[in-house]
Amino acid sequence: MCGIVGYIGNNNIKKQLLDGLKELEYRGYDSAGFSILKDGEIYSYKAVGKITNLAQKAKDFEIDGEALGIAHTRWATHGKPTEINAHPHFAEFSAVVHNGIIENYQSIKQKLQKEGIEFLSQTDTETIVKLFEYHLKNDSFEAFKQTINELHGAYAILLLTKKEPDTMFFAKMGSPLLIAKNDDEIFFASSDAPVIGKAKEVIYLEDGDYGYIKDKKIHLFRDNKEINLSWTTLPQNKEFAKKEGFRFFMEKEIYEQSSVLQETLMGRIDENGIYFEEIDKDFFEGIRDITICACGTSYHAGMVGSYLIQRNARIKTNVEIGSEFRYKNPILNKDTLFIVISQSGETADTLEALKMAKNAGLKTLAICNVDNSSIVRLANKTLLTRAGIEKGVASTKAFATQVMVLWLLANYLGNKNENNIIMQVSKVCKVNDKLHEKIKRLSKRYLHGHGFFFIGRDVFYPLALEGALKLKEISYLHAEGYPAGEMKHGPIALADPELYTIALLSKNLLFEKTKSNIEELSSRDSTILTISSQEIETTDDFIKINSTNHYMLEFYEMMVITQLLAMEISIRLGNDVDMPRNLAKSVTVE
Ligand code: AGP
Repeated sequence: MCGIVGYIGNNNIKKQLLDGLKELEYRGYDSAGFSILKDGEIYSYKAVGKITNLAQKAKDFEIDGEALGIAHTRWATHGKPTEINAHPHFAEFSAVVHNGIIENYQSIKQKLQKEGIEFLSQTDTETIVKLFEYHLKNDSFEAFKQTINELHGAYAILLLTKKEPDTMFFAKMGSPLLIAKNDDEIFFASSDAPVIGKAKEVIYLEDGDYGYIKDKKIHLFRDNKEINLSWTTLPQNKEFAKKEGFRFFMEKEIYEQSSVLQETLMGRIDENGIYFEEIDKDFFEGIRDITICACGTSYHAGMVGSYLIQRNARIKTNVEIGSEFRYKNPILNKDTLFIVISQSGETADTLEALKMAKNAGLKTLAICNVDNSSIVRLANKTLLTRAGIEKGVASTKAFATQVMVLWLLANYLGNKNENNIIMQVSKVCKVNDKLHEKIKRLSKRYLHGHGFFFIGRDVFYPLALEGALKLKEISYLHAEGYPAGEMKHGPIALADPELYTIALLSKNLLFEKTKSNIEELSSRDSTILTISSQEIETTDDFIKINSTNHYMLEFYEMMVITQLLAMEISIRLGNDVDMPRNLAKSVTVE
């Protein structure tokens, strides 16, 4: 999740840009940079790591008077977190910053390379500024329009060029970008936070908006027509702004799942196939079986992955808990592919397990959300989940994207095409406000039981484990995930009206079996909430999901519901949803 700021004015532009970037730190990043256009010259600085590194590099650079500037914090998705890959990116006399992913960047890059245009970075962003100058004949705005018309995917763009010393170009599609102003300054930003306290009025650009600012006059175009500027009052609460209107970061991250899953898929899938540019196909040659190793939520994702890989690729796959694996003196065969899953990339138990596998000569693959983390640096290959920073300690969008990468991997290895289903998942994860309201109301019934069972079969068993973990983590109520078919082997002794069972009832997988497990509990007077597309008699509460023909679409819809249910119960209990007691976001100790 990158961040963008822009500034046009004469009030210490370098400080304005650096302060703006600091207000975007909550979005997470691994490099930063800025460019300033003044009297037809562009001055640029970039640095890996924290913004203080950037400020240090530019400490002797001072510029005053009227100027235009663009700045950026980068969360690596395409290309490692290096200075070369940091934004801004340059052509001969122009600079650009960009948030989002240009889906067709490879084809644009190849076209430009055939024209002899060279590229320095591994990023999709560099194609934007190179394409701009490729189109630049006479009219810069025409060239800018031609450029954005060729881009597919998501973008928020700010572009400067020496050709237009008093102009800034902008465009917005799928990634947030706003314009804010006060009496004599103009600001751009990816969210409210950087401009609160600096500006009074704001325009939240809409998808398809583009335009330019020349001599501090804003020209905004929508549907290819210049439109009047309609300013609204900028909210002044910075903390609220960082949550972008949500009550908690966890809530924001549940709502973000739909969009971040699109980023997870960008460049990796089309109607014909699945592509991992990070890994050559021969990396998987000679693999006889797979071991997945992880902790917590990542372990649950790994369990889902084992069902999918065994079903779709017919490769024997077992799943290990990191803290157990490292002390069980495991048998390690060189023809086993060792996959570690970690949101943070710093979990000690998972990292140690990875070291054991590497030392034993196994091929290792990391599925991780943080590039350049310890686990990424150690693994032979990495598939980034591209979930953006996850601030909520209780993991949500990281889990959603981990499962997606595992599903892509399963079908890639098994040469199976479920692509049209996979490409529907983003839509399925879009939070339905009506449903969220229903969950808010329903949650009041589940505050004081003596415990919860989440039950499911097949991939819905790890989803049950994950739903139980979410609830435990943030409500502090006891909950267990259990294979639905196992309840009769003991746990059903707990059944009574105070035992709440959340039943994940898939229409497409083992419906009748799971339904009879629910009936076993219901006949013993357990209080049951069933989540399904099929309403059944023997249930006390029911949350309906869409009726679909694929169990993974049901999986994702149920995932969102269990996340929201845990959060709404926690809120009613007055807990700190984002920072639950006793927990840390990354467990870097044993
Ligand atoms: C998830 O909600 C938890 N916060 C926790 O179980 C987490 O998944 C686990 O600590 C593993 O973390 P990782 O994915 O960063 O390795």
